[in-house]
Amino acid sequence: MTIETIRKKVIECTKCDLCKTRTKSVPGKGNFQADVIFVGEAPGRNEDQRGEPFVGVAGKRLTMALESIGVSRDSVYITNVVKCRPPNNRVPSVLERNTCKEYLQKEIEIINPRIICILGNTAFNSILGGSEITKFRGKIVRKNNQLYFLTVHPAATIYNQELIEVLKSDIERLFNTIKELKNNNQIKIDIEYTS
Ligand code: URA
Ligand code: SF4
Repeated sequence: MTIETIRKKVIECTKCDLCKTRTKSVPGKGNFQADVIFVGEAPGRNEDQRGEPFVGVAGKRLTMALESIGVSRDSVYITNVVKCRPPNNRVPSVLERNTCKEYLQKEIEIINPRIICILGNTAFNSILGGSEITKFRGKIVRKNNQLYFLTVHPAATIYNQELIEVLKSDIERLFNTIKELKNNNQIKIDIEYTS
């Protein structure tokens, strides 16, 4: 399986009811060899119309945070827990998340990133069973030999100027961590999941 086959499957997918209300499904996008995959919640209105992740206001915030440390969007891979827009941007249900999960799992398996950056509570809950991202943001998690980095959702920074600085400094720690990993240096794991 390749990212291209997953992309095609997502575009045609009718496995959950979100297919009935979407305009376009939104497969992940970016560098297939990225060191990091960013995972958001679900497409919003702009994403639904364009069929691309994080192209609206939240996406601009994410782009800004990356560019503030000299990282281009094209060098990373960006995706969502759920690939179709929930009506009125409601939080995707557990059933929708579980039905869509195989696509994210495959994306992660194929790209095999050094670290997965979780954006906000829905991704935190879906991927690690967590909650209260504001309490855990900025932290590095290891579970089943996969590293995760936790930060706030870029949309949360839109009406909160302080959070944009939080997002930027978190992203800076994330890329410093990636640098250490590439140099085979020891990094500090903040939370170790045992299963
Ligand atoms: N919010 C998300 O969680 N994902 C997007 O793609 C856009 C906004
Ligand atoms: Fe398929 Fe996921 Fe879209 Fe549901 S949200 S129709 S499972 S791609």
